[in-house]
Amino acid sequence: MFYYYGRKKQIVRHYPAPNYGVIIEPFAGAAAYSLYHNSLVSRVILIEKDVKVAAIWKWLIHEATARDIQSLPDLKPGERSTEFLHIIHAATKMAFAFKRIKVTPILARNWEISRRVFAKHLKDVKHWEIICGDYNQAPDIEATWFIDPPYRGEPGMGYRHSSAELDYAILAKWVQSRKGDIICCEGAGADYLPFRHLLELKGVAGKTSREMIFYRPGKKPSQPYLFEDISLSHQFV
Ligand SMILES: C[S@@+](CC[C@H](N)C(=O)[O-])C[C@H]1O[C@@H](n2cnc3c(N)ncnc32)[C@H](O)[C@@H]1O
Repeated sequence: MFYYYGRKKQIVRHYPAPNYGVIIEPFAGAAAYSLYHNSLVSRVILIEKDVKVAAIWKWLIHEATARDIQSLPDLKPGERSTEFLHIIHAATKMAFAFKRIKVTPILARNWEISRRVFAKHLKDVKHWEIICGDYNQAPDIEATWFIDPPYRGEPGMGYRHSSAELDYAILAKWVQSRKGDIICCEGAGADYLPFRHLLELKGVAGKTSREMIFYRPGKKPSQPYLFEDISLSHQFV
């Protein structure tokens, strides 16, 4: 729904579609999976531990009106902002530590795109539910679980609640005890679940990153999910 470090917007179509009418994202971030599949489900439950990120969702779900969105300001390159919602549009992990940011041309462009997304989709998220808390506060119900934690180790650092805080052995047990579809995301080298290769992302300066997936459908999917092995040339935001 907004630019965010580690969001899945650009690759969301490569994950399996939900087989249930409820999606739960226990590591919500900008909730790209729920927005992409929103029309297929009747209920979306987000859990997010970062109070500032959860506050954005509370505002979008419970407070913001179309008029509020229309009156969100332009951001001009060179100006400074202390608004967290603006700062995360830098979409880098450093952004979580900033109290103030100088608007770059990229941030201004990202913000402009998000304002359009808010205007288009605000009405589509008004029935969503947001819980500000730990992933294990999610209701223990049958659902499609899209589980996208901070990736283990260095890639998952930077978030206010980062990979350093997570016990991945406990997370693995919790993931496997979910009822319904389980879709769990990770990066290269992840070994706490039997992850498989999903895709290779080519980023800037020839750097690539590998996306892994653990998928256990809760019931037979209407269309079988084929593990793809693909290379995508775009940045991970
Ligand atoms: C990789 S991001 C999720 C990105 C999301 N899938 C998207 O498309 O934008 C991981 C999120 O988990 C949150 N988080 C970290 N530890 C958490 C915990 N213990 N419980 C719930 N959320 C947590 C972080 O604040 C971050 O927003």
